[in-house]
Amino acid sequence: MKTTTYDVIVAGGGVIGACIAWRLGQAGRRVLLLERGKIGMGASSAAAGMLGAQLEMDKPGPLYRLGLESRSMYRAFADELFEETGIDIQLADNGTLRLALGEEEAERLRLRGAWQTESGARAQWLTPAETARLEPLLGPTYGALHLPDDGNVAAPLLSQALAAAARIRTDVMEGAEVLSYRVDGKGVVVNTLDAVFQAEFFILAAGAWSGGVAGTPSLPARVGPVKGQLLSIRPAGSLRLQRTAFAEGIYLVPKRDGSIIAGATEEHDARFQNDVTVEAVFSLLKAARAVAPGLANAAFERAWLGFRPTTPSSLPLTGPDPVYPQLIYAVGHYRNGILLTPVTGKMIAEAVDGGSWPEHWRAFRPGTTQDAQAIN
Ligand code: FAD
Ligand code: GLY
Repeated sequence: MKTTTYDVIVAGGGVIGACIAWRLGQAGRRVLLLERGKIGMGASSAAAGMLGAQLEMDKPGPLYRLGLESRSMYRAFADELFEETGIDIQLADNGTLRLALGEEEAERLRLRGAWQTESGARAQWLTPAETARLEPLLGPTYGALHLPDDGNVAAPLLSQALAAAARIRTDVMEGAEVLSYRVDGKGVVVNTLDAVFQAEFFILAAGAWSGGVAGTPSLPARVGPVKGQLLSIRPAGSLRLQRTAFAEGIYLVPKRDGSIIAGATEEHDARFQNDVTVEAVFSLLKAARAVAPGLANAAFERAWLGFRPTTPSSLPLTGPDPVYPQLIYAVGHYRNGILLTPVTGKMIAEAVDGGSWPEHWRAFRPGTTQDAQAIN
């Protein structure tokens, strides 16, 4: 079998792999992106698209800092993608309300607001009356933490835009599953069913399926799926939800096209079970109606699912293998892969260039996080 050579091979065409391929292609590298199905059709197209740099973080630390960094990159990232591809990823700078549905939760959220404000981010506690005034479609609350800088994008459009950008700058092969990779001298040999490739660098970005790709050395953490089901509704009448409303067990994300995404289940034992279930749709609709009674007459549109890629520590594993720098991992973005796409593209580009990493990126490097101990 003839071997084709590239500078970099990327396995996996979700937002993470496509963004990395695009950035490396822009930097003048010869890149091959291998996607086993259709590019962009994994978790990335399923996501709710929240940029929850503050919303999703319950403590300060490297993930919080990484999320803030990535969120701050989004406006320029969206503009650049539009210039490159003509696709508008529908960035909405409309903020988020983290709702408290009990007194204890209100106290926890006030504390969260305090440390986030101290770190320089914007977060304001709203009384129940202020919350109701801001979002009349919501039911009673114990108040809310207003996070004006946590916006959202249309995840399917982000996936399409990155796929288009990768196609402009790199070679993309769909229907090309990476079966195995092997470090070979200074490079890596990569096998698909009907081809062998060689590259200076190999980047594993196969989302929740990354743990199943056979490799030497193997991925230094267990990466697996956490199934999430979600649905979309379209409000009746003229009242609109202005910003994302996020409560324990349910979130409602208003999109620029007028729809609202309601999500999402967190199914840790479902593995790759691929059905939208009656139980999930029922419980999401029930929770949505409870938190926003003003949406009871909204039209149901559709329901779907995705598999969040997660690691034992729930942290991304990003960067070169501790022993073989030609092998780079970009996996485990779990609940925040859309948020973390721009910064991950930057991290991996720096890793390939041998550039230096700021301190707060190092926590995610293989061999640094506790995941490194959990060898398959
Ligand atoms: P994926 O998008 O899954 O892409 C992996 C790709 O690799 C797939 O296309 C797959 O076909 C391919 N592949 C697999 N094996 C191979 C192989 N052997 N060879 C070649 N290709 C292979 N994040 C946010 O930031 N905000 C949100 O609001 C948000 N909401 C979410 C809601 C739900 C219900 C879910 C499921 C996820 C959500 N996420 C959210 C998380 C986000 O979607 C993921 O973290 C992110 O999409 C992961 O991107 P990825 O490129 O790593 O994986
Ligand atoms: N970040 C939202 C989710 O993963 O459901």
